[in-house]
Amino acid sequence: MTAVSTPGPQGGLALPVVDAALEARLTERLAVVEEMLAGHCRGRTPYVSQAAAHLMAAGGKRFRPLLVLLAAETGDDADATEVLTAACVVELTHVASLYHDDVMDEAALRRGADTANARWDNHVAILTGDFLFGRSSELTADLGPEAVRIQAQTFTRLVEGQILETVEPAPGDDALAHYLEVVAGKTGSLIATSARYGAMFGGARPEVVEALDRYGEIVGSAFQLSDDILDVSSESVESGKTPGTDLREGVPTLPVLMARTSTDPADARLLELLDADLSDDDLHAEALDLLRKHPAMAQARDYVVARATEAKALLEVLDEGPVRTALESFADAVATRSS
Ligand code: IPE
Ligand code: IPE
Ligand code: MG
Ligand code: MG
Repeated sequence: MTAVSTPGPQGGLALPVVDAALEARLTERLAVVEEMLAGHCRGRTPYVSQAAAHLMAAGGKRFRPLLVLLAAETGDDADATEVLTAACVVELTHVASLYHDDVMDEAALRRGADTANARWDNHVAILTGDFLFGRSSELTADLGPEAVRIQAQTFTRLVEGQILETVEPAPGDDALAHYLEVVAGKTGSLIATSARYGAMFGGARPEVVEALDRYGEIVGSAFQLSDDILDVSSESVESGKTPGTDLREGVPTLPVLMARTSTDPADARLLELLDADLSDDDLHAEALDLLRKHPAMAQARDYVVARATEAKALLEVLDEGPVRTALESFADAVATRSS
């Protein structure tokens, strides 16, 4: 069994695959996708190419293209060229969204490297993100009108999720429900499409395509919620990002929302800090420390594990075997990931 990799395309597959033949096949296919991706980052001038290749070359788990490849194994045409194209489409869309997200979040570190906004500036980061969205759209056109429609809807949902994150819930609306909508949009949507594209272009039965889309949506949301937990608990050396970024930016993620429901007087200081301006380094460090020790962290982890269990139940539509087992492990790895 391969351990969950450290960030970076060279680090092995980002999920444990028990079946050696399947693991070898996915590794080989992912290497092909990797080469294709490098080609798609090239622009007309060295300046564009350099900025566009910056994050792609810096690392990343390649979680979405891997899900495309794995989902394709549920069909009888897993070798189709369209599967590889679709894997590129989802990673290019993802990376483009990271350029934009790092501007929104004023992040300095991504995939263990300087963000484009830190290395160059916001204009370069935004335009490079646009360039990569353009590349992704060009490739989607090769997949036909249905894929274009799905990609367009996915992109709309992703962007709406990112916008919704910047908006307070309406008075009387539940903060957790609002946040879960954000997460489903900004992250669940593209991971659902990764699973759908894989099954669709791999020639899976329509009920498998639908089940995997729903599986991807739940796994994708769980993936983001795990990421929220890691934002609090992990160090840069594991995540390649700056810990506590969400906290500093005031993004009310799952552990924060759960901690906020506490009525324990011992939590008074944490609750006060969660409402304060955490751009101050000392206050930020204090809040991060208190949150790390808070039972809300375990509560948030339990919530994510329950989502993974829900996702796995959708796989009953598949025959038992290495592919189904790998998809089950994929959901488990998301719930318990450490990078
Ligand atoms: C980061 O995604 C943004 C989220 C949706 C949490 P990943 O965790 O997949 O980032 P990379 O691709 O491995 O860098
Ligand atoms: C990223 O969300 C979601 C998208 C890029 C669409 P976050 O802001 O939570 O992710 P990280 O922590 O920067 O990777
Ligand atoms: Mg971010
Ligand atoms: Mg963000």
